[in-house]
Amino acid sequence: MITISDLHKSYPPRTGRGSEVEALKGINLEVKDGEIYGVVGQSGAGKSTLIRCVNLLERPTSGHITVAGQDLTALSDAELRVARHGIGMVFQHFNLLSSRTIAQNVELGLEITGLARNRRHARSREILDLVGLADRASAYPSQLSGGQKQRVGIARALAGNPKVLLSDEATSSLDPETTESILELLKSLNTELGLTILLITHEMEVVKRICDSAALIEDGRIVESGNVIGLLNTPRSKIAHALFPLGESRGEAGNTIIEIMYAGHLADEPIVGRLSREYGIDVNILGAAVELVSDHRVGRMRLELPGPVSAYGDAIGKLRSTGLYVEVLSEVAA
Ligand SMILES: Nc1ncnc2c1ncn2[C@@H]1O[C@H](COP(=O)(O)OP(=O)(O)OP(=O)(O)O)[C@@H](O)[C@H]1O
Ligand SMILES: [Mg+2]
Repeated sequence: MITISDLHKSYPPRTGRGSEVEALKGINLEVKDGEIYGVVGQSGAGKSTLIRCVNLLERPTSGHITVAGQDLTALSDAELRVARHGIGMVFQHFNLLSSRTIAQNVELGLEITGLARNRRHARSREILDLVGLADRASAYPSQLSGGQKQRVGIARALAGNPKVLLSDEATSSLDPETTESILELLKSLNTELGLTILLITHEMEVVKRICDSAALIEDGRIVESGNVIGLLNTPRSKIAHALFPLGESRGEAGNTIIEIMYAGHLADEPIVGRLSREYGIDVNILGAAVELVSDHRVGRMRLELPGPVSAYGDAIGKLRSTGLYVEVLSEVAA
């Protein structure tokens, strides 16, 4: 649905003598039809620049953006205005017009499409109903909570019936409970409307709750990307470690440290019990977490086994053969 290829974006120097800011340094990304794709990264990494390039709010310096088969970078300004109807966008600070009612805010985007007034009206009622705000249509933004404002932002983004929704930190100004309800809304729009969502966030919780795929951006480059469950099975994945912070405990020198990742039915296996019963291994748990990752139960454990890894080849092999992901962190701790 969205293909980003070799995308570069540089900003001109802020002062006459300064140097260019190279915000994006060759980004490649593929978002499939119907998936929720999360891009995470630290402040200044280039997340907003990236998402603003996807609908060409920001003109790429070079590279191509294809949305639903159409290369946006090849379009004229007039063609681009039409293409943008297929791409909705929501922002962290909602960007609602305070002098307009909720319904008028939602209808705003439809005015440019040339839709007749009564049709715009009907559409805004329909979409406000979908986001759970049918009864607030004639209220003003100042009369709504943050979560409700973001629902209006989402309704406005969806008014033109887009195939793609872009979200730049849509939940970052909201408290955890409200965040949860907005994530639920995004997930249900994704399932019910088949909406493809590309979202930017610095909260791993968002990835954990609703993303099918994720990418990590560092200093203008994608350093990791893929299906979330797949990333959890990737050695030394930074996204996996950020999703499952296990603390710093590294065990004692001379012992073997392994990390185990398990998903789906394997999450119900008594792994530690098996290691001690079947193999007589005296296991010490250094850290463990079980989470729901897009509705799959997934767990990660860091275990300490006494002595060098050579003693455990057989046990580790057997665990792996059952489908568990096992990573040996230190053959022999230093
Ligand atoms: N309009 C601009 N002019 C010049 N430099 C810019 C502009 N917008 C962003 N930058 C620079 O580009 C880099 C990436 O910024 P961007 O806003 O994309 O980061 P971000 O990952 O969204 O950060 P945050 O999490 O703080 O929102 C930063 O170095 C920033 O200072
Ligand atoms: Mg940003």
